[in-house]
Amino acid sequence: MIKLIRTRDYDDMSRKAANIIAAQIVLNPASVLGLATGSSPVGTYKNLVAMYEAGDLDFSQISSYNLDEYRGISRSNDQSYYYFMNENLFDHVNINKDATHVPNGENLDAENECTTYEAAVRAIGGVDLQLLGMGRNAHIGFNEPCDEFPKATHCVDLTESTIEANKRFFASADDVPRQAYSMGIGTIMCAKKILVVVSGEDKAEALKNSVYGPVTPQVPGSILQFHPDVTIVADEAALSLCPAE
Ligand code: GLP
Repeated sequence: MIKLIRTRDYDDMSRKAANIIAAQIVLNPASVLGLATGSSPVGTYKNLVAMYEAGDLDFSQISSYNLDEYRGISRSNDQSYYYFMNENLFDHVNINKDATHVPNGENLDAENECTTYEAAVRAIGGVDLQLLGMGRNAHIGFNEPCDEFPKATHCVDLTESTIEANKRFFASADDVPRQAYSMGIGTIMCAKKILVVVSGEDKAEALKNSVYGPVTPQVPGSILQFHPDVTIVADEAALSLCPAE
């Protein structure tokens, strides 16, 4: 079941998404959150930090699992997702850092890292609320379009287009890691609730195909149609190819 929430722009989207996460934290202060990186959730995190600073949110019992991380990147590298999460959220709220989890990109033993991470997420029975962004090709986490939905946390060879899209953050394209660890589609689908933030015209095709198209691993986001509790908060530009309701 997908509930689509229409918003004006990135700021409006970010406020509404933050309100949904805030409601989750208020209703269950010990929630396990699934967290995402990328530019889409940055505004959502900013709003959560503001709510925390205003005294409206308490993260002290919250724990978290992130979707993905580059393989072979050091945690102190400012392009690691570990660094991103501290910078954008964890350093600014009263979350217990020991309760935050990001796949360890410093562990080069892919099988060991993926098995351990998957076991940890499965052991808690799936996260309570999973936040997701969406790639231009409808990828979620680092689950790129492919012939079969990846089930569990796995090591991904990044596509040329993803390396190209992410090179702006690195000194050169050669510095972009070639692989990443990512929760699988099966791991993501274990979440009790899923919240997706989608902004901008370059995501319009991916959003339309994910919500209204056939469910296929060639459009990874389309699997969300089979989840019982998905909320997509999208702005007008991202919704431009979706039928008006
Ligand atoms: C990356 C991340 C995804 C993210 C996507 C979109 O590849 N692994 O988790 O959703 O890009 O990024 P952005 O929000 O910057 O458009």
